[in-house]
Amino acid sequence: MAGGIARTTGTVFKLLFFSLFFVFADGVELAINNSSDNQILSTKPGRDESLWCSVRNNSRAEELRWYRGDGTVNLKDGNKMNTTNICILPVSKTDNGVSFTCKLVRNESIQISVTLDVQFPPLLTGEDPPPVEEKNDVKLTCNVNSNPQAEMVWYKDNSTLTLKKDRYQIYHTSEVFQLTIQKVEKSDNGTYTCEAKSVLGEMRKEFHLTVEDRKPVFPLEAIIAAIVVVLLTVIFGIVARREKIFKVTKTSMNQKTS
Ligand SMILES: *[C@@H]1O[C@H](CO)[C@@H](O)[C@H](O)[C@H]1NC(C)=O
Ligand SMILES: *[C@@H]1O[C@H](CO)[C@@H](O)[C@H](O)[C@H]1NC(C)=O
Ligand SMILES: *[C@@H]1O[C@H](CO)[C@@H](O)[C@H](O)[C@H]1NC(C)=O
Ligand SMILES: *[C@@H]1O[C@H](CO)[C@@H](O)[C@H](O)[C@H]1NC(C)=O
Ligand SMILES: *[C@@H]1O[C@H](CO)[C@@H](O)[C@H](O)[C@H]1NC(C)=O
Ligand SMILES: *[C@@H]1O[C@H](CO)[C@@H](O)[C@H](O)[C@H]1NC(C)=O
Ligand SMILES: *[C@@H]1O[C@H](CO)[C@@H](O)[C@H](O)[C@H]1NC(C)=O
Repeated sequence: MAGGIARTTGTVFKLLFFSLFFVFADGVELAINNSSDNQILSTKPGRDESLWCSVRNNSRAEELRWYRGDGTVNLKDGNKMNTTNICILPVSKTDNGVSFTCKLVRNESIQISVTLDVQFPPLLTGEDPPPVEEKNDVKLTCNVNSNPQAEMVWYKDNSTLTLKKDRYQIYHTSEVFQLTIQKVEKSDNGTYTCEAKSVLGEMRKEFHLTVEDRKPVFPLEAIIAAIVVVLLTVIFGIVARREKIFKVTKTSMNQKTS
C-alpha cells in the first residue's frame, strides 16, 4: 500500500515536472496584432492591410517566418526577430480565402494565422449562345464572382422566369448560374437577364437567345443519291426514246421509198 502511494506520488511529481518543463521550454506563443487566436480579417479589394506578428513569453530571441498559403514570404533581415510585419499592398480579389501564417522557425508547430475575407459586389460575365435551331437544347451560362455570395435570378424579357416549365433547368454553384432550356421553341427566343444581388450591390447581365427554324434534315448522301437516280432515269428515258424515234423515222423512210 505504502509503496503504491509512493509510486503514485512519484508519477504525479514526474508529470508536474514535465509540464513545468514544457511551460518553460515551449511556453512561447505568437500573437498577430495582439490577439493570440487565429483570426478572419474582413477587407475589400484595394485596401492596404498590415499584420504584426510577435512572440510572447520568450526567454531568448526567436526567429519568425511568414507564409502566404503554403509559400514563404521573403522578409528583410531586421524584420524577423521577436516581431515581424507584412503588408498586403493592396488587397486583391484573389486574396480572398488566403491565409497568412506566422510561424516560429525553431518549432513550426507554434503558429498563428489570419485568413482574408475579401468582400466585393457581384460581377457577372458571359457570352450569348450561338443561334439555336428549334428542338435543340441550349445553355445560358452566367459566371458569378461575388463575396458574400449573391442571390441569383433569371428573367426573360424582363419578367421572372417561371421555372414550372419542366424544360428549364438551373445549375447553381458559387461560380456559375446556368440556365438550360431543353427542346427550344420559337417562343423561347428573346432576351434573358441574369441578376445577382448581395448586400454590397447588384448587377444584371443580358443574354440574347435567337431561335431559328429547324432546317430540313436531309442527309447530303441521300440528296446526291436521289439526284443521281433522277438524272440516270432521265438519261435512260432520252436514250430509249431516241432509239424509238430513230426506228420510227427509219420505217417511215422505208415506206416512202417503197
Ligand atoms: C505568458 O505569460 C503570462 C504572464 O507572464 C502568463 O499569464 C501566460 O499564461 C503565459 N502564456 C503561456 C502560453 O505560457
Ligand atoms: C498591442 O498592444 C499594445 C498595448 O496594448 C500596444 O501598445 C500596441 O500598439 C499593440 N500592437 C498592435 C500591433 O496592435
Ligand atoms: C495591426 O496593427 C497595426 C499597427 O497597430 C495597424 O496599422 C494595422 O491596421 C492592424 N491590422 C489589422 C488587420 O488590424
Ligand atoms: C527578443 O526577446 C528576447 C526576450 O525578451 C530578448 O532577450 C531579445 O533581446 C529580443 N531580441 C530582439 C532582437 O528583439
Ligand atoms: C513544438 O511545439 C509543440 C507545441 O508547443 C510541442 O508539443 C512540441 O514538442 C515542440 N517540438 C519541439 C521539437 O520542440
Ligand atoms: C428591361 O428593363 C430595362 C429597364 O427597365 C430596360 O432598359 C430593358 O430594355 C428592358 N429589356 C427588355 C428586353 O425589355
Ligand atoms: C429573337 O430574339 C432576339 C434577341 O433578343 C431579337 O433580337 C429578335 O428580334 C427576336 N426575334 C423574334 C422573331 O422574336
